[in-house]
Amino acid sequence: MNLCMIGTGYVGLVSGTCFADLGNRVFCVDKDKNKIDKLNSGISPIYEPGLNELIKKNYSVGRLIFTNDLKKAISKSELIFICVGTPNKKNSNDVDLSFVFKAAKEIAKCTKNKKILITKSTVPVGTGDSIEKLLKKLRKKNIEVISNPEFLREGEAIRDFRFPDRIVIGSNDKKHFNTLKKLYQPLISKGANFFTTSRRGAELIKYASNAFLATKITFINELANLCEKANINIEDISLGMGSDSRIGSRFLRAGPAYGGSCFPKDTKGLVSTGEKFKTNLSIVKSVIKSNENRKKLHTEKIKKILGSLKGKRIAFLGVTFKPNTDDMRDSVSLKMIPALCKQGSKITYYDPTGSKKNFKNIKNCKFKKSIRETCYNVDLIIIHTEWDEFKSLEFSKIVKKKSFSIFDLRNLYNQNQIKNKNIKYYSVGRPNSN
Ligand code: UDX
Repeated sequence: MNLCMIGTGYVGLVSGTCFADLGNRVFCVDKDKNKIDKLNSGISPIYEPGLNELIKKNYSVGRLIFTNDLKKAISKSELIFICVGTPNKKNSNDVDLSFVFKAAKEIAKCTKNKKILITKSTVPVGTGDSIEKLLKKLRKKNIEVISNPEFLREGEAIRDFRFPDRIVIGSNDKKHFNTLKKLYQPLISKGANFFTTSRRGAELIKYASNAFLATKITFINELANLCEKANINIEDISLGMGSDSRIGSRFLRAGPAYGGSCFPKDTKGLVSTGEKFKTNLSIVKSVIKSNENRKKLHTEKIKKILGSLKGKRIAFLGVTFKPNTDDMRDSVSLKMIPALCKQGSKITYYDPTGSKKNFKNIKNCKFKKSIRETCYNVDLIIIHTEWDEFKSLEFSKIVKKKSFSIFDLRNLYNQNQIKNKNIKYYSVGRPNSN
């Protein structure tokens, strides 16, 4: 099939490349000329394992086309996917849909024949209806609007595309399900569940899934607080609970607090949708609050570990919100590092994806090019992100100070083994963690 992806951000670029790899001809369109030029010279604007190779492979055989020419891309495509960003509005839970509507208007301008428009961006309940209304106003009755939310995780996106748990299609007109089924047939044949529902239903499934996963993480994080006080190991609780098939073991790992481009934004977006439909989603509201409060708890704990923060040298291993991505959006480090520096600490940090502009203007916060340089002379090492290269470090050989502590926010190390080396070790939700 011929497809057009509007927006070459995370969703559009990964999905477009993977669709091309399934044998489709895919036009990836973006207004940002710089991005398109980069892509045409073989450079991916995002960091995602395996993506560069897949882009090169499909670009070289002409199945992947990067262009600014929306009109041409639309005229050659049967299906048009909207993959633009849907951030929260500033200081609000509401979702900013301006990029979505702008894209819909541009599609309308360029469309003559019958087309299917599919929203892949995460959009609140009723957005498909609003796009339809807009198209009617523009006298474009020949464009059908369908919802097909994406569930890709950063760092695992290509695997998630190829082996999805489910493919969700929302349409108020059943005849479109077959067109989408044809597109996804290679994945359905491998066992993906093809799930069809109303357009509003598909829109809500995306928000409900992300809010539920965020709730699961927040639940285990709060229990980790209890475990620290009651001298219980949170990992036993996660295993014990997770082996109940009704609960499931995934997304039950206690950590610093959830972050990233989706959970923080989508939990807020769901609360805002609840308000629009006069429904109090009190659980989701408490999840947002608990997750925010959690970020402050870490600074308090560090103060306790170090006695005072003034003049103390602290190393951060990893600053992105999760491994295998360079994404800093809503990463816990964005709250922790400024708070620690403000109280007089000196921070060095290392991340496999390089220095971050987020910390450029913070006095006493410096990027170092290696783990060794970062930890050289510090009082405390904070393991912030679970990159593989942080999982088996010989800390006593790396740190030159006689006495130092480790605060492992990801529970990467066995605490008995590390304590035997005379290192003061603190982790999350494990006995004697606090
Ligand atoms: C998420 C959803 O999983 C994906 O389906 C959706 O389309 C986009 O949002 P992503 O944000 O890439 O994906 O990362 P994910 O792996 O879900 O992790 C999100 C956050 O939760 C991270 O901060 C991670 O560290 C945290 N997390 C995850 C935990 O703290 N504990 C866990 O057990 C799992």
